Amino acid sequence: MNPAPPPAPEKTRAISEAAKRMLSAKAEQFTESVIREMTRLAMRYGAVNLAQGFPDFPAPAEIKQAAQQAIAADVNQYAITWGAKSLRDAIAEKSARTQGVRIDPEREITVCCGSTEAMMSAMMAVINPGDEVVIFEPFYENYGPDAILSGAAPRFVKLRPPDWSFDAVELAAAFGPMTKAIILNTPNNPTGKVFRREELEAIRDLCVRWNAFAITDEIYEHILYDDARHISIASLEGMRDLTITVNGMSKTYAVTGWRVGWAIASPEATSAIRKVHDFLTVGAAAPLQEAGAMALRLPESYYQKLAADYLARRNLMLSILEQAGFGVFKPAGAYYIMTDISRFGSPDDVAFARYLVEKIGVAVVPGSSFYNNPADGSQQVRFTFCKTDQTLQAAAQRLAKLGQE
Ligand SMILES: Cc1ncc(COP(=O)(O)O)c(C=O)c1O
Repeated sequence: MNPAPPPAPEKTRAISEAAKRMLSAKAEQFTESVIREMTRLAMRYGAVNLAQGFPDFPAPAEIKQAAQQAIAADVNQYAITWGAKSLRDAIAEKSARTQGVRIDPEREITVCCGSTEAMMSAMMAVINPGDEVVIFEPFYENYGPDAILSGAAPRFVKLRPPDWSFDAVELAAAFGPMTKAIILNTPNNPTGKVFRREELEAIRDLCVRWNAFAITDEIYEHILYDDARHISIASLEGMRDLTITVNGMSKTYAVTGWRVGWAIASPEATSAIRKVHDFLTVGAAAPLQEAGAMALRLPESYYQKLAADYLARRNLMLSILEQAGFGVFKPAGAYYIMTDISRFGSPDDVAFARYLVEKIGVAVVPGSSFYNNPADGSQQVRFTFCKTDQTLQAAAQRLAKLGQE
């Protein structure tokens, strides 16, 4: 599914056929994460890492203090497996406050080890052999392996540049009696698309018609630009019980290493998700859940500043990339920029990404890792800009060398 990344020494050892037969056929079907592999290459070549979406600036002081206090107060044992009550209450309050969606913290929330686990647990909880899952592409690279591991057959539907809209007829054709779910990600990684109400309504109509879940990853809900507004599909009429909302602390509070996320779903779906989650990981870090309860109650001004800071970073990164000769697709949300590299005359995105990390000193993600058919992303690479100005300026200096090698 993902293209082979530039070779790393630890991966050059060939696996014999006999050893291969000892391994799972599912794990054979995908490569390790290209994004996280690019981070390792960035470290090896001393490159500025604009590949993986983790902030390189500090997390808010009050959140860190809350975590420290929780550890000092000996919140150091297992939390309730589906999440500390304090955090579930805060999630329910925030959902009502920001999206008008009222959820029962006792029966409709499962706190997981990041939204990554929430997505995997949700898929394993609802997928049966033969079920199909509709996935928009380009997609966040985890969804492909999530589908394979949960046993779902993916049906891909294209989001087309420059505005990354989908064709309603193509989407309708992807749904059918075997459709169990559509995976939605808004604001979207890698495109920066923020799904509009009419688009969500079209998706809702198909979910209702085919009795399919919308599993929606809303981890970038507060990172929005210009006039973009985040709408949770769960807030649309008819979607309350058909939606599984996946979210987490990683991006909103700059704590990607804490691994605290959650899934919100109907009581029936939640009871299945909780069982899968319990046997996958038991629970997320207890003291960090307490800090999460505090974080989710931060005032509106926190989220306004977050969006304003990201707007400045987005605009800076757009100008850096345009000056360096990239074609850019301006994101309406999230913190990535998909770029068109066709002007550079590189044979493909993987070769170009390798050249960038080794010779220019900037790590990016090859576009093909976001597509089912690698050829679709062969003239695209993705940059993240969740970095300090200093980091972005260091990248600018290096990118200015492009074409002069
Ligand atoms: C769309 C999307 N979902 C989920 C994640 C991972 O989130 P978490 O850290 O909560 O597992 C990422 C991280 O880049 C992402 O881009």
